Amino acid sequence: MSLSTEEKINVIGPVLRMQLGRDGQYPVVRFVEKTARAAIALSVSESMDEAGMIEAASKALGSASGVEAVAVDGVGAFEVDPMDETSAGRVAGKVLIVTGAAQGFGLEIAQQLVSQGACVVLADINDAEANNQAQALRKEYGPNRAMAVAMNVTDLASIQSAIHETVKTFGGFDAFISNAGVLKAESVKTQPEKDFDFSTVVNYKGYFLCTQAAAKILALQHKTNPAYMSDIIQINSKSGLVGSNRNGAYAGSKFGGIGLTQSFALELIEDGIKVNSICPGNFFDGPLWSNPYNGLFAQYLRTGKIPGAKTVQDVKRAYEAKVPMGRGCTTPDVMAAVYYLIEQKYETGQAVPVTGGQVMLH
Ligand SMILES: NC(=O)c1ccc[n+]([C@@H]2O[C@H](COP(=O)([O-])OP(=O)(O)OC[C@H]3O[C@@H](n4cnc5c(N)ncnc54)[C@H](O)[C@@H]3O)[C@@H](O)[C@H]2O)c1
Repeated sequence: MSLSTEEKINVIGPVLRMQLGRDGQYPVVRFVEKTARAAIALSVSESMDEAGMIEAASKALGSASGVEAVAVDGVGAFEVDPMDETSAGRVAGKVLIVTGAAQGFGLEIAQQLVSQGACVVLADINDAEANNQAQALRKEYGPNRAMAVAMNVTDLASIQSAIHETVKTFGGFDAFISNAGVLKAESVKTQPEKDFDFSTVVNYKGYFLCTQAAAKILALQHKTNPAYMSDIIQINSKSGLVGSNRNGAYAGSKFGGIGLTQSFALELIEDGIKVNSICPGNFFDGPLWSNPYNGLFAQYLRTGKIPGAKTVQDVKRAYEAKVPMGRGCTTPDVMAAVYYLIEQKYETGQAVPVTGGQVMLH
């Protein structure tokens, strides 16, 4: 069975990026219809599979150095931008996809990663806002460093299309951060079935679909370069570790996510993919809690959830008092776990709590 042009790009881009890497650093490999650069010719036949393309690319590149472009008959060309020697930081030269990156934790994670040298793809169903944020990051850090893609994590075709855009722009990626999530808190006695389904399909099934699509590219990179390891990181929640009162749909979807992480980790390690979850405590300063109109503090004040609370600040203080460290979780707290998971080479299938001591493992 022959591959479509889109499938060929999804194979050739990552194969070239891996083969042109040096010392664990990989260039940007960008697909273009035509190139004006001096190009090495690579021919791929209709019947070639992944292994055939890896071999053909290896032969075409030989020991060439300073490759500027590779032209592939009937497909197009791949321009190679060398590693940016000036980019520094804990994730310098890495490409990462972050879902749910238009606001909240996802946006701040994306911003932190770019500030630490990475190229980041901001994927969100709210593509207009993801675009605004990516544009601001490009302005500050440079044209190659951020892009936005429309992605609905509940729709496999949409995820595949966003991953294809990533491969066309960067030649592949090194980590996929599955952050998009939703919360509709309500008692099991009254919650409408459709609200239960909404949490389940975004938080639980969405993570499955994203992993399925991302693992394809990550596994191919490992096949091309067996020393290469990559990461899938799910932003889970402390509600994935302990039950959450009147919030069963959310907690159930997050508990399920940890089951997926453990199972995917067992399976995908043969492809060099580490799969881990991070379980943050409450992000009180993010829009979910602090939006003045429909944030959880405003909602809980209106519904009298905290007896005696007269202001949003009273509600916030009551929640902070539940945390041994006396404050909410922040993005720098989460980033410490993200960098740990990416840098370490001997852990997979874990759920890392970042809760200020509110949840302790046993
Ligand atoms: N806010 C907290 O207190 C907290 C605590 C622990 C864990 N978390 C987890 O962190 C993650 C981010 O939470 P947040 O508070 O930043 O959320 P948020 O509501 O501020 O942002 C979520 C983002 O996800 C996007 N999104 C929603 N549905 C989507 C879909 N189907 N496809 C693609 N994008 C979609 C939204 O457009 C939005 O940009 C979630 O997984 C959440 O469960 C949040």
